[in-house]
Amino acid sequence: MRTPFVAGNWKMNTTVAQASVLVREMKERLDRIEGVEKVLCPPFISLTVIGELLRGTSIKVGAQNMYFEEKGAYTGEVSPQMLSELCDFVILGHSERRQYFGETDEVVNKKVGAALKSGLSPILCVGERLEEKEAGNTDEVVTRQVRAALRGIESPQGLVIAYEPIWAIGTGRAATPHESNDTIGLLRRTVAQLYGKDFAHGVRILYGGSVTASNIAGFMEQPEIDGALVGGASLQAEEFLSIVERSAAVKKAK
Ligand code: 13P
Repeated sequence: MRTPFVAGNWKMNTTVAQASVLVREMKERLDRIEGVEKVLCPPFISLTVIGELLRGTSIKVGAQNMYFEEKGAYTGEVSPQMLSELCDFVILGHSERRQYFGETDEVVNKKVGAALKSGLSPILCVGERLEEKEAGNTDEVVTRQVRAALRGIESPQGLVIAYEPIWAIGTGRAATPHESNDTIGLLRRTVAQLYGKDFAHGVRILYGGSVTASNIAGFMEQPEIDGALVGGASLQAEEFLSIVERSAAVKKAK
């Protein structure tokens, strides 16, 4: 049985002061929720403070990006080693990185390899654009992205995958639980082809894109969906807490 996983991706929101307030608002209640792995992914500059605030709780920290080189003359970048002191997870290949910062499948592949080498668990994001969905290419796009991101990687221990259809991100138009379940089932079969059925059975695969407290239960009820990567709704303490609490409740009833 896979432990459900809910992560908040704060994206480029919150100053250090605002991030601390947000964490203080949710920390106690979030800590008490059992049966779900809870992860907060603030901007880089807040990782230290948030890590300190969360020390001793059941809540984990993740980064939103990372460079693949170990260290050196890469002005403005952050290395796997630097992150491994501060967090357990790192979001890689988010569609916003691909779209606005030119990240290719090859770059994402290097980042996934580098993260694993440093003991970080990648939260690998894949998802199709609206045109790709409309052309009936979703399956081909997302399986290609997963295969490319994992190329040459022997054993991606701790890997988490997030299926985030781009047209559903920040639009208020979430995918349906049923279609997401189908796509996530396909991704699990793809992982099975690469690493075997047992491994694939243990990999958490999340849905992301306009997740709210009102629609989370529908996703969590699906057999293949192990949790959510939450953007906008993770910036509101009450809303995020409800999302995690409802995830825990659905899991219990499953
Ligand atoms: P929203 O929840 O704001 O749609 O964002 C989803 C996302 O991109 C999480 O990584």
